Amino acid sequence: MRLSPALAPALALPVALTLAACAGRQSPLAPAGEQASSIASLFWLMMAVCGFMYLLVLMFLAAGLWRSWRRREAQGDDRPEIDPADRALTRTLVIWGGLVVAGLTLLITGSFLADRSIAQARSRQALEVRVTGHQWWWRIQYRDEATGGWIETANELHLPAGRTTRVTLGSADVVHSFWVPNIAQKLDVVPGLQNVVDLSPTRTGWFRGQCAEFCGAQHAHMAFDVKVDTPAEFDRWLAGQARPAPVPADAVTARGMRIVTTGTCAMCHAVRGTRAVGKPGPDLTHIGSRRSIAAGTLPMSRGGLQGWIVQPQAVKPGTMMPAMPLSPADADAASRYLASLR
Ligand code: CUA
Repeated sequence: MRLSPALAPALALPVALTLAACAGRQSPLAPAGEQASSIASLFWLMMAVCGFMYLLVLMFLAAGLWRSWRRREAQGDDRPEIDPADRALTRTLVIWGGLVVAGLTLLITGSFLADRSIAQARSRQALEVRVTGHQWWWRIQYRDEATGGWIETANELHLPAGRTTRVTLGSADVVHSFWVPNIAQKLDVVPGLQNVVDLSPTRTGWFRGQCAEFCGAQHAHMAFDVKVDTPAEFDRWLAGQARPAPVPADAVTARGMRIVTTGTCAMCHAVRGTRAVGKPGPDLTHIGSRRSIAAGTLPMSRGGLQGWIVQPQAVKPGTMMPAMPLSPADADAASRYLASLR
């Protein structure tokens, strides 16, 4: 049989998509967490059982067509001849019926085991984190085990490898969905409700989380970076996040600090250790240490910060962030200050 050249791209696309889905930093098929591993195993079990059943169905279809064609050739009659007393037929039905029951039993067992292994993490001691969904960014708060208070950041979740982090989800406005595909299952973020998801990462590295429930115009720009650290790296990072903002080292940065912490920005944003204590927007205390701007919309850079401050509506139409009509020199100073907040 020769494949038509037009079929090649049609076949290549699903193969390429499947391979792409099996790798990368936002894929449930490249698990880096216990929960995602259970889900990936269940996925492959379902794929194998259902793929096998699908092939069987195709095989029977082909065999049926072939027999009907042969019968018509021989007798000019395509009615199937079924004899209820035919023992061979009964045996065949029992075998194939048994196969279907076995397949379904495998799927039920696999699903039960995956659920159970995901639920097991709930009984462990865990690091406490609160994540709040906003249109369209994530407020992230770590329980400070020393003081019992909360250390706030935004849009970048750090997790210690080999330990369970218990994330309590809340929403400030509409329904969102919290999902780090490489690490765990997704869970809805519902206003007025506290949903809890356990993340038990096993492998260090950068991953990507994404809001997985349509929540308005910028739903697609409601992502977050996830960094799985070694426990020592994580402790260093959290201690750094707990500290107040660094003091400006030069005159331009000091001017940027005045613009950010005493102007309009401070009405919505907090920079701990300064006069800016606004609550509605993301905490900026260590924004310079983050990997991206505006919930995964722009990579972190001074140019990106300036563009975001001056024309947020061009970057993310509909965002709550209003444009700041700063002079180029002021925008430069503000971006220098923000980038220095590491
Ligand atoms: Cu939040 Cu989609």
